[in-house]
Amino acid sequence: MLQRLRLSRLAGRVAASRCTPALVATVHGGKQRSTAPVPCASVSPAGQGCKSTAERRGSAPRRARTVPASALAAEAPEASNEPSTSAPSTIYTRPDLYELAFSYRDFKAEVKFLQEVYKQHNKHALSSVLELGCGPARHLAGLARGGVAKVVGLDLSPDMLGHARKSVAKQGGKAAEVVELVQGDMSDFDLPHKSFDMVMCLLGTFSHLLDTDQAISAFRSAAAHLRPGGILLLEMAHPGDLFDGTLIIGESGKEVWELPQENGDKVFVEWGAEFDNFDPVTQIIFRTVTINVLRGDDVIDSVEEVVPYRQYTVRELELLAKLAGLEQIALYGEMRMGVDLEHEDAYRMLALYRKP
Ligand SMILES: C[S@@+](CC[C@H](N)C(=O)[O-])C[C@H]1O[C@@H](n2cnc3c(N)ncnc32)[C@H](O)[C@@H]1O
Repeated sequence: MLQRLRLSRLAGRVAASRCTPALVATVHGGKQRSTAPVPCASVSPAGQGCKSTAERRGSAPRRARTVPASALAAEAPEASNEPSTSAPSTIYTRPDLYELAFSYRDFKAEVKFLQEVYKQHNKHALSSVLELGCGPARHLAGLARGGVAKVVGLDLSPDMLGHARKSVAKQGGKAAEVVELVQGDMSDFDLPHKSFDMVMCLLGTFSHLLDTDQAISAFRSAAAHLRPGGILLLEMAHPGDLFDGTLIIGESGKEVWELPQENGDKVFVEWGAEFDNFDPVTQIIFRTVTINVLRGDDVIDSVEEVVPYRQYTVRELELLAKLAGLEQIALYGEMRMGVDLEHEDAYRMLALYRKP
């Protein structure tokens, strides 16, 4: 079955890449996807003409291009949009770069999925949502526009929240009117509203909680903010990625994607690096994440960080849910109805838990 999952996730990823024409991948044989959301191919460090995984498996080759190694090796100048602190930049203190890097996602389709999946497991219409680690709040803005009356985003990062506030204000309409943004730690929070229809945590954000006590407390906090019958939804890496070695074999391969910008610049994202480590005892992977903005061959802006992600198994999540008084009700393999975890298109995990 593991083999089937492995091939399936590749297929899902190719399908995803075909849906995102602006997303161009360089190629290489290495790992499949990890906690990085929805890039389209595994690539070589310098994109040096190795075959993509899909090519090796005989499926249609994707458009491939390389970024000049000279550009990536070049010393990046001072970032132009630094926050007003002397702390080093991280991917979350540069929300502008974070948002560019993940701008290929189809937020409209993802918001539709969130509404549909809630409907599938509930008699009531979705009227209130809390997102943990909301980042730029793109899903929340979409849900507000779609008629959800109470929409709250919680995030630890003041920079990310500042960016999200500006973004929803700029969007205006329901997004500006309805979305509330709060600073807080998802591992322990206490908000005035305690009867959300759905609490969600997307894009592997839950993996930022590295120790078990934090995870237990996060589940308990989430459960305390759900109405009876309400749903906790987590989007995580596909469990096969942990067990088939995708996340563990840290010596080769990484995921790279490139997003051409309207002004001719290119955003080049590297998710993972050659010597990223996986600690099998703590289940923490140390992922090197680099986002470069290229103008021609020059890097004009960049951020790099080694981000620790704890990998949670399905059974661990189920136990965390039980400890919080929640029951597991469904596991999907993509933000698409009808794609369960073992479906041939499955390449992510959407885990749903209900408060009885
Ligand atoms: C991968 S981003 C996801 C953002 C957004 N959910 C999305 O789908 O684009 C993770 C977000 O979680 C936030 N975060 C990390 N640890 C957190 C914590 N302990 N509590 C609350 N937010 C946290 C980060 O600041 C960042 O905005």
